[in-house]
Parts: sequence; C-alpha cells; structure tokens
Amino acid sequence: MSLILAIETSCDETAAAVVRDGQVVISDVVLSQVEVHREHGGIVPELASREHVRKIVPVLREVLEALSDPVAELDAIAVTHGPGLAGSLLVGVNVAKALALAWDKPLLAVHHLESHLYANWLAGQEETPPPFPCLCLVISGGHTSMVLVEDHAKYRQLGQTLDDAAGEAFDKAARILGLGYPGGPAVEQAARQGQAGRYKLPRAWLRGTHDFSFSGLKTALYRLAQEERRREASLHYGQEPGPDERPPGEVPRLSRAGEFPPLEEQVTADLAAAFQESVVDVLVRKTAEAANAYGVLAVLLAGGVAANARLREEMALRLSVPLRVPPPTLCTDNASMVGAAAHYHLLRGEYAPLDLDVYPNLPLIASE
Ligand code: KG4
Ligand code: ZN
Repeated sequence: MSLILAIETSCDETAAAVVRDGQVVISDVVLSQVEVHREHGGIVPELASREHVRKIVPVLREVLEALSDPVAELDAIAVTHGPGLAGSLLVGVNVAKALALAWDKPLLAVHHLESHLYANWLAGQEETPPPFPCLCLVISGGHTSMVLVEDHAKYRQLGQTLDDAAGEAFDKAARILGLGYPGGPAVEQAARQGQAGRYKLPRAWLRGTHDFSFSGLKTALYRLAQEERRREASLHYGQEPGPDERPPGEVPRLSRAGEFPPLEEQVTADLAAAFQESVVDVLVRKTAEAANAYGVLAVLLAGGVAANARLREEMALRLSVPLRVPPPTLCTDNASMVGAAAHYHLLRGEYAPLDLDVYPNLPLIASE
C-alpha cells in the first residue's frame, strides 16, 4: 500500500498528483502553459521555468485538497528528475526535496520516459495490469523510443529516432501547413477532412533496425506545401511562381507561429492526412515487427502522440497482440504517471538522495 505525491515539471506542464498503490489516481492537476508559448510558436525554456516557479505552489495546494492530513497520509514524494528542460526540472525537483525534507518522507526520482510508460498501469483503462514482456512505444514531443519491458524496472531500448521525435514532426508539420501550435492535435483535426492518397510522402523504414527517422518526411512535406503555395499564388493573382531562395530540402527555423501563410483548406487537409498517414504507417509497421520478433504479450503506447486517434485505430487493427493505450489526458505530460512509476521505486526501496540533481539528457537505464 502506498500513497504518493508526484510532481512533474520536465517541460511545459506544471503537474502534481496523488496516486494510491501506483494505480488509483486520487487527485491530478495539470496546468498547461500552451497560451504562454503559443505566440512564440514553440516552447521557450526560460518562460517555461518561470511559469513553473509561479504555478507550482498553487498546483500543489489544489492537488493536496484531496487529502485531509497530507503529512500523516503520504508515504513518499516523487518527482521527474530527467530528461527534460534543466530550468523546468529544477523547479519540480527543488519543491519535491523541500517537501521530503520538511515532512520527513522518502524522495523518489523518476525518469520521464519510465513515467510515460507507467501511465498504462493506472487503473480505469483495464482491470489487469499489462503483462510482461510487453513492448512500449513512447512517442512524445521529445522522444520516439521502442522499449522492451521485461519486468518492472527491466527495460531495453530497442530503437529510437535518429532525428526528429514523432511529436516534434507533428509540430513542425503544423507550422509548415500554417496550422499553429501545438501541432499534433491541429494536424489530426485537419487530417479528418483530408484524403491521404492525394499526395505521396516518403516513409523511412530503416530496415533491420527498430530506429525511426522523420526529418526526410518533414522536408518532403515542406516542398509540397511550398509548391502548392506557389500554385495558389499564380492561380489567384496571376503571379509567376517565384524561385524558392532556400537551398533545396532545407526547412527554415521559424521563431514565430503563423510565419507560413495558410493554404487552401482542402489542400491543407489532404497534406495533413498524407503526413499523418506516413507517420502512422511507419510507427505501426515497425511496432508490429518488433512485437513479433520479441514475442511480447502486449503493446503499450505512451506519450503525447499516443493521443492520436488514427494511430490508435491502425495499431489496434494491425497488431496480433492486445494494444493498451492510456486515455488522452494520461498520454500527454501529467504527474499521475510519475506516481505510478514511483510506487515501484518505493517497493524496491530505491530512494533518491536530498542532493538529487536534474539530468536534462538522462538515459533510460535498466536496473537489472
Ligand atoms: O508527452 P508530451 O505531452 O510531452 C513531451 O514529453 O514531449 O507530448 C507532446 C507532443 C507534442 O509534440 C504534440 O504535438 C504531440 O505530443 N501530440 C500529438 C497529439 N496530441 C499531442 N501528436 C499527434 N496527434 C495528437 N492528437
Ligand atoms: Zn512527456
């Protein structure tokens, strides 16, 4: 039995939760910073850490309202210590340390990817916990990782992205299509009205590996979108298509959302659908291959991109083992998943020291 207060501030969500036995969410608060970052077209690290500083105490106050006597009831304080933005991680880690010290509780340090995959252990989705061995595809704004989970704390990273993360690819696609920020949900929504077959986009198979690559797809989308913009301009205003001054294949780094003008609605929808289909196709086929190769008993999805309905649908269709996906609110960053993973740290007596640091590039290491 355990009751854990969990804190998550690795990126742009200020989140806290109280979780019982790594399974039952007692209370959960997520304060999104989307509005703060929107005008910049992406996350600005300095603004993110400042927002965490301002919001962490109100978020903790709210989440602790579920308990009548937190000091007496809680067994431990858990926090994400990496990977993530250093300045953001520092806020959560310092608050967690202060509470652990003041309330004399064990401190538990959780890896962000580990927490994402433990979203699948939170009750409410399935009666029974996921079986071992299982394969977990962690697809978020910062990661695309295929992880073989042989037991609690026994992970093997089979593959990862060699360039952009899947969520990052969605975010960049949204910019290229003039859909703004955050990109994933915007691309998914646009794609609903689109025909994926109108445009041909590449798929990087990287055969013989469990790795991924999405940067070629992004470049191909950029070229198609620019071609369409030139076509639309010449059609509407009789202009000659101007030369594209950027070197071929280079996608400009944009600092502000909306720098790319919107395309015709149907063109946007069709390009979004073609892009989404390409990402989904690669993720699904490579996951199915790995699931067969390792004889796993289930596939788990985790991370923000797992909220994508088209991906869930196609995975469920093409896998030969059961698929488990957390509800969308537990796919994106939250603290309940940190509490779920931390429960098993507590059972194993894996306590973090009070001089715990933050690790922006922390690898997911298996503790054998
Ligand atoms: O896990 P998460 O909240 O944060 C990270 O740890 O990165 O994932 C955020 C990422 C963003 O890139 C966002 O565009 C993507 O997940 N995302 C989606 C969808 N919802 C969020 N991508 C595709 N379809 C969605 N419905
Ligand atoms: Zn995340």
